[in-house]
Amino acid sequence: MGSMDGTIGLVTGIANDRSYAWFIAKSIMAQGGRCIFTHLPGDKMERRCRKAIEGLGVEDPWLMPMDAASDASMDEVFAKIGEDHGRLDFLVHSIAFADKDWLTEGKVTATPREVFTQAMDISAWTYMGMANRAKPLMTDGGAMVAMSYYGAEKAVPGYNVMGVAKAALEATTRYLAMELGQAGIRVNTISGGPIRTMSSMAVGGFSQILDWVEQKAPLRRNVTGEDVGESAAWLLSDGSSGVTGQVIYVDCGYSAMGL
Ligand SMILES: NC(=O)c1ccc[n+]([C@@H]2O[C@H](COP(=O)([O-])OP(=O)(O)OC[C@H]3O[C@@H](n4cnc5c(N)ncnc54)[C@H](O)[C@@H]3O)[C@@H](O)[C@H]2O)c1
Repeated sequence: MGSMDGTIGLVTGIANDRSYAWFIAKSIMAQGGRCIFTHLPGDKMERRCRKAIEGLGVEDPWLMPMDAASDASMDEVFAKIGEDHGRLDFLVHSIAFADKDWLTEGKVTATPREVFTQAMDISAWTYMGMANRAKPLMTDGGAMVAMSYYGAEKAVPGYNVMGVAKAALEATTRYLAMELGQAGIRVNTISGGPIRTMSSMAVGGFSQILDWVEQKAPLRRNVTGEDVGESAAWLLSDGSSGVTGQVIYVDCGYSAMGL
């Protein structure tokens, strides 16, 4: 018997089988949960996402395109979930975006307004946008998890405007938890350690970050997708029934270090 038997939820953010969302879906399914999916619109994105989902052993997945920058696109997805499934028990928000031209050292001060606004919109506001649409479907309560990074609270060279957006995402987690708790919906975020994915490779100096963490983290290694996937499944299951509004570190202890 799994801790997520009989549950169904939406997993966003699978670009390929290295995405954090892919590992999260794998752990959810291992606990008996059923995942339905969205991908960024476009044939290439759909192909890659579908292939990754096949790798999870899901035949004929429920999969829709969703551009989180578009209210209409989000409305369409959640309306179709309502029509096809009638409910949601969990939601995985594992998406982020910032123009990579501004994710290198020395590129904080001159960040253009539109780059800042887009990073905030896609990486932080969308947690509210999805939560608002998921709420009416979570009639028996539910749980949500999003993905953040240590650069939300400390300045990490190259992370720049994305760090600012992640700070907003972490605050959003607390405010959503405050409002959705009465509906029995828990809202948490994982601050995950660095792993190589399509998005993280856009951050200037990412390889040095991996080397540094390996040397300094208490566990003397970098986190794996499995580490994060298992913690996310726990946050989405009744095993964490008293946990909400939290940012949980899954980073081999790196954030606990002073030096
Ligand atoms: N990889 C890391 O080192 C790391 C560490 C901590 C947190 N995170 C966070 O984990 C989450 C997942 O990232 P990842 O590292 O797995 O990379 P990834 O590139 O595999 O996933 C990012 C996803 O965001 C999606 N996305 C971007 N813009 C979108 C939009 N407008 N609408 C819908 N989807 C959109 C992409 O399609 C992609 O699937 C992100 O929030 C990221 O910031 C990553």
